Amino acid sequence: MNLPVRSIAAALLVIGLTAAVLDKARAGGDDYFPPVTHKLTTDECGSCHMAFPPAMLPAASWRRMMNELDQHFGDNASVDAETAASITRYLVANAADTGGRTYGRKLIRGVSNGAAPQRITELPKWVHEHDEVSPREWKQKDVGSKANCPACHVDAQLGYFEDD
Ligand code: HEC
Ligand code: HEC
Repeated sequence: MNLPVRSIAAALLVIGLTAAVLDKARAGGDDYFPPVTHKLTTDECGSCHMAFPPAMLPAASWRRMMNELDQHFGDNASVDAETAASITRYLVANAADTGGRTYGRKLIRGVSNGAAPQRITELPKWVHEHDEVSPREWKQKDVGSKANCPACHVDAQLGYFEDD
């Protein structure tokens, strides 16, 4: 009598496992960087450009950047001290060399310990990955800047940066 219930449970288990395996395969890929989940960071750091995943730079980079927001790539991106502290905590906890290790480790390969590069687009590994993008492509009107990831990576906001 409880056979149908059991088979349903078994079927659900299979579906659950498949989803978990798929999820892991995608999340474990070199091209997956968990998107920002901290609302303050999304709001303050996603208004001028996409909110870059914290796992794309080492903790030292975020600390330095958050201390120099009044001179942020020619813009003033200052926020109040409390907001800055909260964003810094989030970025640092999920940085390439801390919480975001699994995802960011490869991207910061070649960056010396303690260095604080300010641009993802100047990381040796990033530059290497984009070797084959021609100068003409970078200058296309809908791209505009190397930092405009979503122009080429349509699912960048979801954390996916596969070549498409
Ligand atoms: C007022 C607008 C503005 C705000 C707000 C802002 N940024 Fe930026 N950000 C810029 C500009 C402009 C650049 C340079 C973009 C370019 O080169 O095309 C930049 C570049 C960056 C880069 C380097 C991109 C690369 O080339 O790899 C990072 C990382 C970054 N911002 C992080 C942040 C973080 C973290 C915050 C939130 C605390 C933030 N930004 C808020 C304007 C802003
Ligand atoms: C002009 C288009 C363009 C822009 C803008 C761009 N990319 Fe890419 N990106 C590419 C292409 C094309 C490749 C694939 C290169 C290859 O297959 O060797 C790539 C590859 C990558 C990879 C490696 C993917 C993998 O399969 O391992 C990462 C990570 C990445 N980009 C991140 C970024 C980030 C972060 C930004 C923004 C800061 C960005 N890209 C901006 C075109 C772009």
